[in-house]
Amino acid sequence: MAAALGDPVRHALESVLDAVRDRTDGDVASYIPELATVEPEQLGAALASTHGVVHEAGDVESEFTIQSVSKPFVFALAVDALGLDEVRRHVDLEPSGEPFNAISLDEASGRPRNPMINAGAIVMTSLMRGDSADEKFAVVRAGLERFAGHDLLVDEEVFSSEASTGDRNRALAYLTRSAGTLGSSAEVATTAYFRQCSLTVNARDLAIMAATLATGGVNPVTDERVISEDAARWTTAVMTSCGMYDESGDWMVRVGLPAKSGVGGGIAAVQPGQFGIGTFSPRLDARGNSVRGVATLELLSQRHGLHML
Ligand code: DON
Repeated sequence: MAAALGDPVRHALESVLDAVRDRTDGDVASYIPELATVEPEQLGAALASTHGVVHEAGDVESEFTIQSVSKPFVFALAVDALGLDEVRRHVDLEPSGEPFNAISLDEASGRPRNPMINAGAIVMTSLMRGDSADEKFAVVRAGLERFAGHDLLVDEEVFSSEASTGDRNRALAYLTRSAGTLGSSAEVATTAYFRQCSLTVNARDLAIMAATLATGGVNPVTDERVISEDAARWTTAVMTSCGMYDESGDWMVRVGLPAKSGVGGGIAAVQPGQFGIGTFSPRLDARGNSVRGVATLELLSQRHGLHML
């Protein structure tokens, strides 16, 4: 349900977007060449309440690839399907303090440090049901569609671009395979992971996906239970400690909302029990987080007392 005109939450979102619009620092992602073709000025934000009311401001219709914002939701699907103990045999849940593409592996256990960095996320995708990349991706896609509440399309250009330049991710997959924590061949895992990252969403979708974690696993717009309450809680916990990579600690102090960013320019943030927020703006800081998305959430949190603590 879209909120009515004259809606104060929409005005609050618009006012914050106006305040951050002149931030022109940062660069669009270019290590995946197709991402460099995006229109950099786009800026949008949406807030979805746990009652299913959605407030929107700016470029909420603009589609972009979900990239790493998919990671908490795929972790949630893995935990929901396999249980936390089994998932933890494959990935640790500790903040890495390292960039998203770090060569991260605990020597003793062979596990990546957490499921929010690429190494851990590729392992999560490899644990999805099915043998082939197509089967695993179909499970990911169906799961993310239930979080978003509608069908999601793959951006085939971004997928090809990512697949043809993704050797570091392949290296991470081979490393975890050799350590015994990958659940498939490296090729199957990375193909499914590249397709997962190339699914397209908009800021409204991210708000509803985040709100599905905020409710404890029920999509507040479709009323469908997507994951268990435990899976939602554990996922939100991992976002709290690891969602913004090596900025996670600073982020929790400044903004105080569990969140996950992606190099497509999206951020999803959760206020447990209350709402989810999705933001979109393509220029990124050095850590791969959207400059104006971070600024939007920081200002929203400060102005409206959204800090969780
Ligand atoms: O694996 C990659 O490098 C990209 N598909 C996703 C990375 C990403 O979004 C990091 N987030 N800020």
